[in-house]
Amino acid sequence: HFYKTAFGFQSLAYAGPETGMKDKVSYVIRQNKLTFVLTTPLKANNDIADHIYKHGDGVKVLALKVDDATSAWHETTKRGGKSYLQPVTLKDDNGEVVLSGIHTYGDTVHLFVERKNYNGAFMPGFREWKSGYNPASTGLLYVDHCVGNVGWNQMNPWVKFYEEVMGFKNILSFDDNDISTEYSALMSKVMSNGNGFVKFPINEPAEGKKKSQVEEYLDFYNGEGVQHVAIATNDIVKTVTELQNRGIEFLSIPASYYETVLDRVGKIDEDLQPLQELGVLIDRDEEGYLLQIFSKPLEDRPTLFFEIIQRKGAKSFGKGNFKALFEALEREQDARGNL
Ligand code: FE2
Repeated sequence: HFYKTAFGFQSLAYAGPETGMKDKVSYVIRQNKLTFVLTTPLKANNDIADHIYKHGDGVKVLALKVDDATSAWHETTKRGGKSYLQPVTLKDDNGEVVLSGIHTYGDTVHLFVERKNYNGAFMPGFREWKSGYNPASTGLLYVDHCVGNVGWNQMNPWVKFYEEVMGFKNILSFDDNDISTEYSALMSKVMSNGNGFVKFPINEPAEGKKKSQVEEYLDFYNGEGVQHVAIATNDIVKTVTELQNRGIEFLSIPASYYETVLDRVGKIDEDLQPLQELGVLIDRDEEGYLLQIFSKPLEDRPTLFFEIIQRKGAKSFGKGNFKALFEALEREQDARGNL
């Protein structure tokens, strides 16, 4: 209900006791190319109950579409990936889906999904979920990138994992000189697959005067995990206006940011006023510019949040906004007594 109402997702599929899954229920929701599976336990002592007990609400599975889930599993485990799920073929009247998976940082896993021979709503084991309640889309299109927070000295081992096991490349790096404020610091490396569609930045805390925001995350998530999911839109003013009207709260940006931002980024197509009213940040690189905004945490723990991003040529991640953004984050962190 929350994701449909606030974010404009549509009902797609359901699995639970009625479909043969006795100890949990999953609701699959979709908006354009975004597909989220929201799972809750029906009993104690199952993998989902344990995950929530330890981490609170968060991202457990980052699923990747592959041509061949069997070879993806063989290849990644041969290169040192730890198996989460051996290749399994699921069948129903609509065809078959092959799933396999490996572990990544923390309790997070990558599922490899081969669905070229499937025509049903989602996958075998799920039934189509038709609903009379269909809030309008907010214009969210697809996952632009998904960021993991890892522990002290763990960024480079996980960069190596994405290079060696997954065959990704490190396309960008930020050190604590790029990403530090008066108080807290972090380091980040962006890992991407060959065609650039899949981007996984990896953050590690760095020493600062006070506690890094990554450290606060690690404390409250009880380990490494997904920090934020960045979702693309073609019209950030329209999307964020709609999200705010539906109750999603974003980090507020001081008015002083907007006094100088155009000196830094140059001319942009949008009027500055609505961007300022919403708190949208702007950054430019050699290829163009981008507009981005960050939600407050989506759950009670200060862990997972969403970024909304509109790219106008830029392929980077808003390095010029890090300082303004992190100062905004620190105000929230300080209010929680964790700075
Ligand atoms: Fe991001």
